[in-house]
Amino acid sequence: MIMKMDAPTAHKRLLKWVEETVELCKPDSVYWADGSEEEYDTLMGQMVDAGVGIKLNEELRPNSYLFQSDPKDVARLESRTFICSPTPEEAGPTNNWEDPAVMKKKMLNLYEGCMRGRTMYVIPFSMGPIGSSISQIGVEISDSAYVVCNMRIMTRIGSAVLDVLGDDGFFVPCLHSVGTPILKPEDDVKWPCDPVNTYIVHFPEDRMIWSYGSGYGGNALLGKKCFALRIASAMARDEGWLAEHMLILGVEDPSGNKTYVAAAFPSACGKTNFAMLNPPAEMEGWKVTTIGDDIAWIKPGEDGHLYAINPEAGFFGVAPGTSDLTNGNAMGSLSRDAIFTNCALTDDGDVWWEGMTEEVPDHLIDWKGNDWTPDSPTPSSHPNARFTAQARLCPTIDPAWEDPKGVKISAFIFGGRRMNDIPLVFQAFNWSHGVYLGATMGSELTAAAEGTVGKLRQDPMAMLPFIGYHMGDYFQHWLNMGKNLKDPPRIFHVNWFRKGPNGEWLWPGFGENMRVLRWIVQRTAGAAGAFEGPLGWMPGYEDLDWRGLDFSESEWEELMAIDREKMKAQSLSHEELFLKLFDRLPKEMSLMRELLISRY
Ligand code: OXD
Ligand code: MN
Repeated sequence: MIMKMDAPTAHKRLLKWVEETVELCKPDSVYWADGSEEEYDTLMGQMVDAGVGIKLNEELRPNSYLFQSDPKDVARLESRTFICSPTPEEAGPTNNWEDPAVMKKKMLNLYEGCMRGRTMYVIPFSMGPIGSSISQIGVEISDSAYVVCNMRIMTRIGSAVLDVLGDDGFFVPCLHSVGTPILKPEDDVKWPCDPVNTYIVHFPEDRMIWSYGSGYGGNALLGKKCFALRIASAMARDEGWLAEHMLILGVEDPSGNKTYVAAAFPSACGKTNFAMLNPPAEMEGWKVTTIGDDIAWIKPGEDGHLYAINPEAGFFGVAPGTSDLTNGNAMGSLSRDAIFTNCALTDDGDVWWEGMTEEVPDHLIDWKGNDWTPDSPTPSSHPNARFTAQARLCPTIDPAWEDPKGVKISAFIFGGRRMNDIPLVFQAFNWSHGVYLGATMGSELTAAAEGTVGKLRQDPMAMLPFIGYHMGDYFQHWLNMGKNLKDPPRIFHVNWFRKGPNGEWLWPGFGENMRVLRWIVQRTAGAAGAFEGPLGWMPGYEDLDWRGLDFSESEWEELMAIDREKMKAQSLSHEELFLKLFDRLPKEMSLMRELLISRY
């Protein structure tokens, strides 16, 4: 075995863990990732030579690669995701739980010899700018070079992280294996995985992650959902901060004032589009800048305000539907130095996906490697096909996106995909009411999510699959956070997805969402009008900037209408979730519900 004797660290706990993992997984060799460009080029070169990845046309998409996964390994798997806290009560009724001792035994069996014939990569990574007091360090051990390359875009990896870690710094160990040892040459497949034995397991007490059997996205890039949300949410509860499934954006007004907001939307609700929106040209002087598109780590500063960083360094975005029209800034971010997974390959060596261009290419190689024409019965790209793109290439990236202090958050926005009940926008009466709005958030399912299309899924704060402990305690933590702040951010609810009786969208969305954002930002400064409605403070027609959009007052009335009967029915669904959490549900939540019903 080639064990790199010159491990680039003297960190005892890390060295011990690496040694133990070598003994357990029995890789052929061990490689410590330094995070350099040469290393990235070498790994990519090896994967291309092995027929695992495809180098795209250098002129059309410089320094970019396409990978096609096993069709059985195409998404995050919530049914195989576990929170193994010491007792089931600590994980709560919304998480899969297994006794940590039982799970460890089962997984140690799986890990035994699982890296035979492969290289074991040790990837030190920082979630957040290296050295920021809000950032955290993890080390991922993985037997996938594809994971190393993706982690280099999605996080900050390598030697600089080990320098900050020093000899005894804290890190979260993240063990990942695709679960396919190479015992004979035929085992060396293009996309190794073990769909039968896939487990994505979190030990919040140990601050540790074990993942086995999948090489895809959040199952394998363990800094993202596993660390930055599930483990970090447990750390945040214990340490008095917030780890949230939120984008962060900046809004600059015509006089140059900047306001930062963080917004939570369930998966598949266009978070990346919102984080990078281009305001309508007629709203002269208004500008949106991007800090992050998926995750926010938020800490109270000494001044009693909340400060947020984006713990990630890249975007792992859903490709289908992304275009110059829907999100030109995402397209800019992925114009070079990107990794594509499960997109289609064009005849001139570029990528394509459904919705990228109006004109559909005559011929493609689809995500399964087959010839594809517009007559083919299946889409050319998988609906959950992804791009991995560097945040720094985003045309709207905010100059402060790597500021170690973070940016001051003035508003939180909660939203969902609600075709037929919730108005476009309203503001919570106060912090606890805002927490209630977040807690009762829901979204109608799309094809991309597991479950039935159109069904309403309760997804509190968009964190249902990402809270590493009991959801009732999570609501309590949010309530407590507000109490300790000087001037808590204002909280808003939005719904871009309302439809009329004939199924037509009532709101154009995309860049036009700037009109809502402007009202939100002005409200945080006490500079915009509103009236009191049963759901919260609502803008009147005259409170929005309508320059450049032909939107009548009667259309506005329809978009903002509140159907009391539908609302009552909706409060019943809040009760369903609350009953599940019963003994740990903060009493404020039930009181808020009573108050809401009394206002109908
Ligand atoms: C994501 C998700 O991929 O939320 O960001 O599912
Ligand atoms: Mn997400």
